[in-house]
Amino acid sequence: MTSKRELQIASLVAVVLFIIGITCYAAFPPPSPKEPVRLMFQTTAGKVLFTHEVHNKEYDLSCLDCHHNIEEDEVYSCKECHEAAGDEDMPGRTDAFHAQCIGCHKDNDSGPTECNSCHAM
Ligand code: HEC
Ligand code: HEC
Ligand code: HEC
Ligand code: HEC
Repeated sequence: MTSKRELQIASLVAVVLFIIGITCYAAFPPPSPKEPVRLMFQTTAGKVLFTHEVHNKEYDLSCLDCHHNIEEDEVYSCKECHEAAGDEDMPGRTDAFHAQCIGCHKDNDSGPTECNSCHAM
């Protein structure tokens, strides 16, 4: 038979573990949306490899350089707004990617600007 004392110890241990659990949960909040390491765009003109993490860390860019909208809303997917067919107010998907990727490479005089240096696969 379990003694009263054993039951008391068991419930004390349970309470302590519960408090530790809550503290740890609060100390480590869930991370913000997971940044991709690299992305492979499948296109009819050939696949494009985009080194997201390298662009971020090694080329010293800020999220806003590319995710130009995130101050207003937390949408990271370009395709969510830039649909296949654009209009005069909103560049279509391909134009949005080309303008941003090639535009920055030209401005910085580094990074590929020729079709087949991006559409390499
Ligand atoms: C050089 C440009 C560039 C920079 C800098 C950049 N991103 Fe991105 N990111 C992209 C592109 C392009 C995509 C792909 C979007 C798509 O497929 O529509 C992407 C995708 C993402 C996604 C996945 C979106 C999805 O559809 O699931 C997240 C999350 C993200 N980026 C977060 C970040 C964060 C946080 C930073 C800053 C620390 C950052 N990015 C910096 C260009 C960039
Ligand atoms: C929440 C909606 C939204 C998201 C997400 C978004 N855009 Fe845009 N984008 C717009 C709107 C609206 C415009 C037109 C008005 C303006 O220039 O801000 C635009 C304009 C642009 C332009 C033309 C800018 C100019 O100065 O002419 C480019 C290039 C562009 N977006 C690329 C991208 C890329 C690449 C991504 C993903 C990394 C992205 N956008 C994500 C809404 C969005
Ligand atoms: C805001 C600036 C910026 C934007 C936007 C940008 N890049 Fe770059 N990219 C760079 C810089 C800087 C380099 C480095 C070139 C070097 O060091 O030789 C680079 C290099 C590259 C390279 C070659 C080296 C590597 O890391 O693979 C590829 C491929 C590339 N970019 C693809 C893309 C694509 C695809 C997009 C759009 C989805 C994009 N880039 C958007 C700045 C940018
Ligand atoms: C800096 C890299 C880069 C360069 C340079 C580049 N592209 Fe692209 N291209 C992309 C990216 C990124 C996409 C968007 C993929 C997506 O929409 O998912 C794209 C999309 C396309 C598409 C749309 C394909 C589809 O399936 O809808 C075509 C066509 C295309 N590019 C042709 C070209 C041609 C032609 C050139 C040269 C004049 C060129 N690209 C130069 C990165 C590049």
